[in-house]
Amino acid sequence: MESKKEKYKKLEENRKKALLSGGEARIKKIHESGRLTARERLHLLFDDGTFQETGVFVTHRSSWPGMDKKKIVGDGVICGHGLVNGRITFSFAQDFSVLGGSLSEANSGKITRLQEMAMENGAPIIGMNDSGGARIQEGVASLAGVADIFLRNTLASGVIPQISAIMGPSAGGAVYSPALTDFVFMVDGTSHMFITGPNVIKKVTHEDVSQEELGGATTHNTKSGVAHFLADDDEECIEMIKELLSFLPQNNLETPPYLTPSDSPSRTEPRLREIVPNDPKTPYDIQEVINLIVDNGEFFEIQPLHSKNIVIGLARMNGHVIGIVANQPMHIAGVLDIDSSIKAARFIRFCDAFNIPLLTFEDVPGFMPGTDQEWQGIIKHGAKLIFAYCEATVPKLTVITRKAYGGAYCVMSSKHIRSDYNVAWPTAELAVMGAEGAANILYRNAIKTSKNPEKELSEKIDEYEKAFANPYVAASLGYLDDVIMPENTRPMIIRALENLSNKRQEMPPKKHGNIPL
Ligand code: HXC
Repeated sequence: MESKKEKYKKLEENRKKALLSGGEARIKKIHESGRLTARERLHLLFDDGTFQETGVFVTHRSSWPGMDKKKIVGDGVICGHGLVNGRITFSFAQDFSVLGGSLSEANSGKITRLQEMAMENGAPIIGMNDSGGARIQEGVASLAGVADIFLRNTLASGVIPQISAIMGPSAGGAVYSPALTDFVFMVDGTSHMFITGPNVIKKVTHEDVSQEELGGATTHNTKSGVAHFLADDDEECIEMIKELLSFLPQNNLETPPYLTPSDSPSRTEPRLREIVPNDPKTPYDIQEVINLIVDNGEFFEIQPLHSKNIVIGLARMNGHVIGIVANQPMHIAGVLDIDSSIKAARFIRFCDAFNIPLLTFEDVPGFMPGTDQEWQGIIKHGAKLIFAYCEATVPKLTVITRKAYGGAYCVMSSKHIRSDYNVAWPTAELAVMGAEGAANILYRNAIKTSKNPEKELSEKIDEYEKAFANPYVAASLGYLDDVIMPENTRPMIIRALENLSNKRQEMPPKKHGNIPL
């Protein structure tokens, strides 16, 4: 019979094995590639000494081909819970040193149990992905595991924040788990996401493309918009995740964390008077406006590299977290196109799900014209943004700094779609279109037949500008709550935000809406 001493020794040996994962040689290879191991990543994420591992001794149950001799304790994923900056958090880190971090039936079981626990405990879940995808040797059993994860990602959506960090390969259908989560981080040079790799692409479409170009961190942060954040290395990625978490509530029943402010709520900002140029065609940087208004100029931008004509991100106003959506005149005049509509719509829905009030800065000439946009479906994609704003029941505040033209006026959190507090600066122009376009349409014949068409056009532009290129028509109709001096924006928005903090608005009973996808 095994003595107690032997039993204790056995436990120690088994634990050592678990800690060593796939062995020193494979760990060395991971380090040489510029990556950290799964354990090192978890160590950086959690507050010291708080990480509690789950499913430590799980192994796979397959035997083909010779898999019964390839059992490694933990089976390629390390799961557990602990504290991140003092708040309960759940996390799994795929362990590339064990069969390439591939998803087996057993290891996906560890992940799905963790997802359920995160939901039951109302705490965020962070997935650190570094995996060759479904474990090939297990066939359909591994696919079942992948689908089990998708289901829980979907059920958890809007209940707890779900964050994915891609820190190595993320290949095949397994990429869809991160895609179902709220935010995707990627690490420059070492992370890749694709449905099929370069070799398959070469065979099917005869395209030559490198892994990096196809699905590297830059590609997904700029072109595809699949990723929200680009980090230089694993350490920076984990720091960025922690910063994001600091803005988020633990779950959909809580409000975001309040931070005692060190910035005055009554701070006025004379520089705001100067920012909007006299010429309506001259761009300016909306980021500067945001930075001058939010607490301590701290704005945590999301998707900064994708669809730059719209800016989204999180900040605080007198200590309260807000989500900001802002047209960016610096990039294609801040026009709304397909990508910017989708980018903003998804963010608005996240904020609404997690009780984060929305502050919109508006300077938008309209929706992007052209066959490219029309044929790719700007009608249905722009409708996503309308749907998201209309549906959102969190407090909604809007500041119109300059242009609010056409359909874009309606879309960008107007009063008509249940925005709570809408103000404009004196430089605002609320109209169906810009004065030049309007004069050309309304007075085409008069201009054509005039002896001096240029003079005629310029007079008509002036006329239209006087009638509409201002905020007062909208204000007289009650479509704006106030016209304010730019320097007073911070104190006025803070007051409104605080007075709206108990807002409750119901949706008509339904199973769910049918957002135009
Ligand atoms: C089992 C795998 C594996 C997998 C990698 N390994 N992927 N084992 N199942 N899916 C193993 C390798 O055999 C190797 O084992 C070890 O992990 C390290 O892999 P390497 O190839 O040596 O590493 P590297 O050169 O860095 O390449 C990493 C990689 C490559 C790009 C991820 O391994 C790869 O292309 N893997 C297959 C990717 C794939 O097609 N997966 C299936 C996707 S389909 P040894 O013992 O030699 O060290 C999918 C379905 C989901 O996921 C469907 C949901 C709807």
